[in-house]
Amino acid sequence: MRVHVADHPLITHKLTVLRDKNTPSPTFRALTEELVTLLAYEATRNVRTEPLEIETPVAVTTGLAISSPRPLVVPILRAGLGMLEGMVKLIPTAEVGFLGMVRNEETLEPHIYAERLPDDLSNRQCFVLDPMLATGGSLIAAIQYLFDRGAVDVTAVCLLGTPEGLASVDAATTGREVTIVLGALDERLNEVGYIVPGLGDAGDRLYGSV
Ligand code: PRP
Ligand code: URA
Repeated sequence: MRVHVADHPLITHKLTVLRDKNTPSPTFRALTEELVTLLAYEATRNVRTEPLEIETPVAVTTGLAISSPRPLVVPILRAGLGMLEGMVKLIPTAEVGFLGMVRNEETLEPHIYAERLPDDLSNRQCFVLDPMLATGGSLIAAIQYLFDRGAVDVTAVCLLGTPEGLASVDAATTGREVTIVLGALDERLNEVGYIVPGLGDAGDRLYGSV
């Protein structure tokens, strides 16, 4: 598993505003989108491409085009939906599939309640969007779901992660092509499975509690 933790003052600045409990939902949503566009730059570093010959007004030259099959972006509902626009801004030709997951707040076990993905993900590069990598349970379940459908490599973009969550994802995906791109690696998980210092419940902060 490869891990990339962002190291850029703009990302840290935006995360600081996001973490602040007084930041209202409209600002939180706007900042989430901006942060994902910045993280997507790193997350798509290994996006598959093929040579493409074009004519400029001056000469013939060979550039690059994103390869077929197109990358698949998978926001994990609910909170991952807040990251979608920021990601597709950078790769507008990507296909988008959805996985709905919720963590049982007593057992911390993830449950998949909705799915809308292509049946066959053979040879597909997938980009999972979920702001919080806490215990890692939700991300492990999402990654396994995609590999079971034939995906070949999965890159997860998360705003915050924990050392405990990263270790669990690593142990559960040994031998697989997995990359995690984080806005920040936080200190730890607390006794109720929240990221510390974190930003609270990402879904609630984006959309309000349901
Ligand atoms: C949050 C978050 C992740 C998950 C992370 O979702 O968006 O999906 O918790 O926790 P884990 O690493 O311990 O599995 P939540 O279950 O609160 O659902 P929501 O997005 O609908 O709010
Ligand atoms: N899910 C969240 O939304 N926040 C956390 O800190 C942990 C899981």
